[in-house]
Amino acid sequence: MRDALIEQAVQVLRRNDRGTYTVPTHGLYPFQWNWDSALSALGFAHFDEVRAWTEIDTLFAHQWEDGMVPHIIFHERDEGYFPGPDVWATSRKVPTSGITQPPVAAFTVRRLFDRAKDKTLARERAKALLPQLHAWHQWFFRARDPKGSGLVAIIHPWESGRDNSVDWDIALLRVPTDGVEPFTRRDIQHADPAHRPTRAQYERYIWLVQTFRSLGWDNTRLHDASPFQVVDPGFNAILIRSCADLADLADQLDEPDIARQSRDLAERGSAAMETLWSRAHGQYLCLDRTTGSLIDSPSVGGLLAAFAAIPADRAASISRRIEKLGEAAQFLIPSHDPTTAEFDDLRYWRGPAWLIVNYMIADGLLAAGQSDMVDRIIADSIRLIELSGFAEYYSPITAAPCGGAHFTWTAAMVLEFLASPTTGPSLPQLSGSAMG
Ligand code: DGY
Repeated sequence: MRDALIEQAVQVLRRNDRGTYTVPTHGLYPFQWNWDSALSALGFAHFDEVRAWTEIDTLFAHQWEDGMVPHIIFHERDEGYFPGPDVWATSRKVPTSGITQPPVAAFTVRRLFDRAKDKTLARERAKALLPQLHAWHQWFFRARDPKGSGLVAIIHPWESGRDNSVDWDIALLRVPTDGVEPFTRRDIQHADPAHRPTRAQYERYIWLVQTFRSLGWDNTRLHDASPFQVVDPGFNAILIRSCADLADLADQLDEPDIARQSRDLAERGSAAMETLWSRAHGQYLCLDRTTGSLIDSPSVGGLLAAFAAIPADRAASISRRIEKLGEAAQFLIPSHDPTTAEFDDLRYWRGPAWLIVNYMIADGLLAAGQSDMVDRIIADSIRLIELSGFAEYYSPITAAPCGGAHFTWTAAMVLEFLASPTTGPSLPQLSGSAMG
């Protein structure tokens, strides 16, 4: 069974490989997405290291001059996606979107580097990427933390990657819909509308895009102009982890300035993260920067904080919180608390379980010594694959496959869980199979 799953995962990656970049899945997402790509490279590294490095190189070949790495790169025309390049109108030679996504690339690069069999190649590629990764991280703190709080805000729900999370509901209501140009959604032609965000949410997503476009995508203006500014602990944990990983990498590659600056950003971020802790919920919460208040929504974003180094008692509390979620869900980790009214087991980020999130939380909890919970998260992840294949996400109640099929990053995470006996989290006992 283990070997068959590994083989299937490799086939999914090959199927979605477009040579120098990978699409998340055919149809629904026909271009290169930022964090999909970064996490997918981890999968390629198990059978083709050169291809893994190329994935990251392609992503950074489209970095903006100000340091931002966009969330979508429109390598080819495809009318099957909305909003396409004409809506974004970012005036790039190869069109891109104008917002960013969770900066997980430096974490990936460090992991590729640490595991590389071809050390010469790894040194060369990592060294070339180092200043680009650092420029992106610096851009975040400049453009998305203008007052120097130590934490960055997202200015569009799409930046979080958790597009329709309950976390954004109230903040999103402050985004108007007047003046939104008429549009036809394409996502619901590829995926079940019951698994996707609502029309009302899409109208607000597009209002934000139009507003940023009217400001010429000038990142010195977008943060303050956005009525939506949310500090997401999960997003910030990814950035903090990436800064810390980049610091270690820079030490190894003899770049002391990048190492020192990156470590400083990670330390400031970690200290500021503590302002997002909720004793009542036993986890971190989002902060609405426009009101200055924590958002009372116990989502997986606050658990993903464990991906960065957090105090041991916080990690233990997050582990207990996941245990509790497991009393209401058959499959860890639901993206929202199943006991709340807003929970929807099928609708994108309002309940479904996602393997990439499971992977990052498991990785953080392992470092924090929570290995029993890590084993459980990984075992549930593999059960989801065994039951429902390589879906985009899954009902944490029934394991029903949701969203797109043959999904690249899901396949990459399966390779990480099953094919990394030395550096991955500890392996689960697969049902009815002997572990190799
Ligand atoms: C989508 O199109 O659903 C994406 O999540 C936006 O990046």
